[in-house]
Amino acid sequence: MKKKLLSLVLAATMVSSLLVGCGNDSTSANSNSTQNASDDVVVDDSASVDDSASTDNAADSSSSSDGIQVGVVLPTKDEPRWLQDQAQFEKLLGDAGFTSQVLFSQGSSATEKTNVETLISQGIDVLIICAQDASAAAAAVEAAKAEGITVIAYDRLITGTDAVDYYVTFDSFSVGAAQGQYLIDNAPSGSGIPLYLYSGAVTDNNAFIFFEGAWSVLQPKIADGTFVIANSSEAVALQDKAELTRDEEASILGQITTDWDFNVAKSKAEAHLTAVGAELKGDVVVLGPNDGTARSIADVFATDKDVTSYVVTGQDAEIASVQYVIDGKQSMTVFKDTRTLAADSVAMAVSVLNGETPTTDSTYDNGNKDVASKQTDIVVVTQDNVKSALIDSGYYDASEFTGLE
Ligand code: BGC
Repeated sequence: MKKKLLSLVLAATMVSSLLVGCGNDSTSANSNSTQNASDDVVVDDSASVDDSASTDNAADSSSSSDGIQVGVVLPTKDEPRWLQDQAQFEKLLGDAGFTSQVLFSQGSSATEKTNVETLISQGIDVLIICAQDASAAAAAVEAAKAEGITVIAYDRLITGTDAVDYYVTFDSFSVGAAQGQYLIDNAPSGSGIPLYLYSGAVTDNNAFIFFEGAWSVLQPKIADGTFVIANSSEAVALQDKAELTRDEEASILGQITTDWDFNVAKSKAEAHLTAVGAELKGDVVVLGPNDGTARSIADVFATDKDVTSYVVTGQDAEIASVQYVIDGKQSMTVFKDTRTLAADSVAMAVSVLNGETPTTDSTYDNGNKDVASKQTDIVVVTQDNVKSALIDSGYYDASEFTGLE
């Protein structure tokens, strides 16, 4: 434990300055952490960070030769979104002097559980976990909690358990609402415009929140005839309901889910366009749930000769999708600044390891409890603001893109 306290001095100070660098609103929370960390200082020369240590299998990065303080578990390496988070964690945890390890679950709840067990056996005090499956992850975090480990749900809420201490998230309702609003603002004029709905995986609580946000703005435009739902009989059956129950949402998501998989998104989009008649083609709008699936869906709609134009949303500001936006192949993306989310999580870990209560600003009901949460705003990115939102903010380098003005 002594070793940890030395790291905390560094961690609190460095995370604080990193957050100032990010320009987010968490600065004051971290100033508090710095103060508290200093109060607790016990210097022990045994503290060390070995940046060279790493393993090849599930483990992706490790920075400890004798025990790990903070374990991070992310869902998959196969989506660029989570590689952005990995990069931020490695930087922030390393800079902060934490011994840490980032593991990937590769789409499997079983691997996720094994990863958590591995981290428990390595002596972690804080687990930061983005669940593969919201309810299946409960068993894994309960095992961590039983060992006195503080559990921070990262980006995705873990449901049906008391074992989640904190939740660090983007404002996911606003993500969906921004996508829906973009379709409304950029739809062709007139009424009867075909609307294709797609969602994330039903095992991801966020998929429901995104859809709820989108439905909150789209439903009135469906009810008044501006949009005609083209690809979900369940959504059509519920189109007069402004607020849906979880079961009603589940019935719609059951039809329109992409499983967050671009291959599923592609084959569903193909099947939908094959099934509809010419009246549901022409100028269309498409709720694309995230960037990977949006690119697949866009490619399918772009090659259908009866689709004259399409507007399609996304989220995550993945490099490939930012290029699609620049090229006019994807209409928008939602930038979720992983620098802020990772920094908030690391700041929380600092507070926890100092025996302080982390700063939170909201709560999310996970079915068992209201989980104290820290929420981060999102930014809509279109051709008009790619440069200011993503390049000038230092998130990406202009050299990653072509055709950028
Ligand atoms: C995240 C999205 C991501 C999706 C698929 C969601 O939980 O919030 O950013 O695109 O999972 O991985």
